[in-house]
Amino acid sequence: MSVHKNVKRVTTHTLQEMKVNNEKISMLTGYDFSMAKIIDSAGVDVILVGDSASNVMAGHETTLPITLDQMIYHAASVVRAVERALVVVDMPFGSYQGNSKEALSSAIRIMKESGGHAVKLEGGTEVLESISRILTAGIPVMGHLGLTPQSIYKFGTYVVRAKQEEEAKRLIEDAKALENAGCFSIVLEKIPADLAERVAKEVSIPIIGIGAGGGVDGQVLVVHDMLGINNDFNPRFLRKYHNLFEEMTNAVQSYIKDVRTGDFPNKEEQY
Ligand code: KIV
Repeated sequence: MSVHKNVKRVTTHTLQEMKVNNEKISMLTGYDFSMAKIIDSAGVDVILVGDSASNVMAGHETTLPITLDQMIYHAASVVRAVERALVVVDMPFGSYQGNSKEALSSAIRIMKESGGHAVKLEGGTEVLESISRILTAGIPVMGHLGLTPQSIYKFGTYVVRAKQEEEAKRLIEDAKALENAGCFSIVLEKIPADLAERVAKEVSIPIIGIGAGGGVDGQVLVVHDMLGINNDFNPRFLRKYHNLFEEMTNAVQSYIKDVRTGDFPNKEEQY
């Protein structure tokens, strides 16, 4: 029997059951009420309030500038719209790396002030203490390995990660450490498909991929990318389901034309 069809509200346990049942998990980012309503009613399993809001909502070049207050604002807007999906909220850069007590108080603020259901943070063994402390408060944690955009200045580029054996070995160890610490799921970003599939087989928690091939337990994309709202981001892993940039431009141009010609508003569109 299908797990995802039979749940009114997706929980971390639903995702675990989906993995056991070989059902792929769908996850998309969401940052605001209106978009979250569409994504949730379409039936997505997980909405990630990603710190990619820093890029797609605020226009920053990296995810580093977004603040905890701003993440909470986005997450609370999403939570108000959602009836079914699990809402996972990214912990922004600087809110968990300093020390584990600060990490716990940041996670508590996210849960209390936004109403989100879980947090996500980037890194492996170097953030294990923070993860363990957050978990002691009963807050579910999703890990994030591979390309970790908050460390962009350490790596210097957004190229595929863990292609070399040593880095691949470290990634597998990190995934196992996150599982042992109690993470309920891990995002793997931009790593070779074979490696991602191996991780998904070797750990028992759901592995969600972005640019990590089809051998994992689920997929995540940034919603603005898959809807084609961004027209200047075209990585190989991205499938665009629409060209909303073009469609919205056409709609706005039609409106401008109608205003200029006096066609809008017509008799039926006034009081
Ligand atoms: O912030 C984000 O959108 C993410 C996804 C790319 C996984 O972390």
